[in-house]
Amino acid sequence: MQQKIIILDFGSQTTQLIGRRVRELDTFCEILPYNKMPEDDPSVIGVILSGSPYSVHDAEAFELDLSRILGRYPILGICYGAQYISYSQGGRVEQTGTREYGRANLDYIDTQCAIFKGFDEHSQVWMSHGDTITAIPQGYQLAASTDDVKYAAFANEQQRVWCVQFHPEVYHTLQGKQLLHNFIVDICGSKQQWSAASFVESTVSELHHQIGDDRVILGLSGGVDSSVCATLLHKAIGDHLTCIFVDHGMLRKNEFQKVMAAYHGLGLHVIGVDASDKFFSDLKGVTDPEQKRKIIGRDFVEVFNAEARKITDAKWLAQGTIYPDRIESLSITGMTIKSHHNVGGLPKEMSLKLCEPLKWLFKDEVRRVGHQLGMPERLIKRHPFPGPGLAVRILGDITRDKVRILQNADDIYIEKMHAYMMPDHTSLYDHVWQAGTVLLSTIRSVGVMGDERTYEHPIALRAVTSTDAMTADWARLPYDFLADVSNEIIRKVKGVNRVCYDISSKPPSTIEWE
Ligand code: XMP
Repeated sequence: MQQKIIILDFGSQTTQLIGRRVRELDTFCEILPYNKMPEDDPSVIGVILSGSPYSVHDAEAFELDLSRILGRYPILGICYGAQYISYSQGGRVEQTGTREYGRANLDYIDTQCAIFKGFDEHSQVWMSHGDTITAIPQGYQLAASTDDVKYAAFANEQQRVWCVQFHPEVYHTLQGKQLLHNFIVDICGSKQQWSAASFVESTVSELHHQIGDDRVILGLSGGVDSSVCATLLHKAIGDHLTCIFVDHGMLRKNEFQKVMAAYHGLGLHVIGVDASDKFFSDLKGVTDPEQKRKIIGRDFVEVFNAEARKITDAKWLAQGTIYPDRIESLSITGMTIKSHHNVGGLPKEMSLKLCEPLKWLFKDEVRRVGHQLGMPERLIKRHPFPGPGLAVRILGDITRDKVRILQNADDIYIEKMHAYMMPDHTSLYDHVWQAGTVLLSTIRSVGVMGDERTYEHPIALRAVTSTDAMTADWARLPYDFLADVSNEIIRKVKGVNRVCYDISSKPPSTIEWE
């Protein structure tokens, strides 16, 4: 049986990061809303309670019936998780009115405490909390303090409960990985058997068993997730997999041809559909970002379904859905910022069953699986690319000419990013989560080229660092790289006379402009 850690999510920004850290310890984990603890699951070996945007004193604060887990599993409470345990077990949590944020050092550490095994004196941790724990419950012992925070960690080791006020999952807690290792491996007893190789082996055999001789359809996008999904399925069921790749005309320069060639190289059977006329005609004159997304989403489903219907004996539809797409959001704000478009709305009469072999993986794990499957590096390391493609990177209406301008600028930017080597001998492209260009076609500015005045559009360059696209920071690209890209774009791409660099982080901005 596969062991697993349950992470109960109280809405913290770093919950997914906790999940990734657990997986990095080759241990399977599931992130569930705080009130969805499974009843009796013998594969659970431990529970982690996440942080939260709320204070335990808020009327809306998320509450958990601790009696369901206390004494049954080892528990690690992080930040709000620690405060909640203290508060609900008879300790005291006070609203001191001052937020504690940033680096701190553990000036006192109980080296006998199991989660601090191997810790250095004064180990650096990262704090981010509003309330302060001023008394711990009976039966609990102080395990670590900083200058400002007396109860930085406390535990009831008989009951197997450990609480930390700081965040072991973030990079700035220098021995956070050690702490999680102590909890997951030593305390919970993880056998650390979750790896890309074990995943491929077990998934291929499960898929083989589940699908048998049935026929499967899969929508390819050129991106990492659907490509890895296809390769995995191909390994399991060979020719019984048929892939459909729709070209809506707003992919990157020559991408359709390049990706089709890569897929053929992998031995996949792919039907390529050039539906660009339909998309351009339906998008004619449309300038509103949400409307563009809706039209593309609708057209995509229509084109995909028309192709899928031709495969009359198909029984399954496979999708490259990954874990972050599925983690049930606590919807604290409840707002749709942008509607996302992915394959949806299957042809009803086909009554296909859904197959999502990557549904438990984080993005970096998908990449590792791709590597394990021997896929080309360039395909595995691709940056994410939005379903509606360059349509959401052109402000204003969309025409073939504008797409061509953007494709040319984008191609220069991305190819130079691949070619620019960093001191660690990897490319700049590999240091960035996602990069792309935006055509500001609703704006014109004056320039001068040779002896002539120009009055043309600017291109904005976007590059971000991120771990999950939920939050992102603008990438600090080297000035010489920016200078080179800017020169080349203005020199070579007709219709562009100015290049800007987008220095907004998410939030409050988003990665895509539309
Ligand atoms: P935003 O712009 O919301 O983007 O910060 C977050 C991430 O999602 C990608 N994105 C999409 N991906 N279909 C997709 O499959 C879409 O409609 C879509 N819109 C945005 C975006 O490129 C970034 O990686």
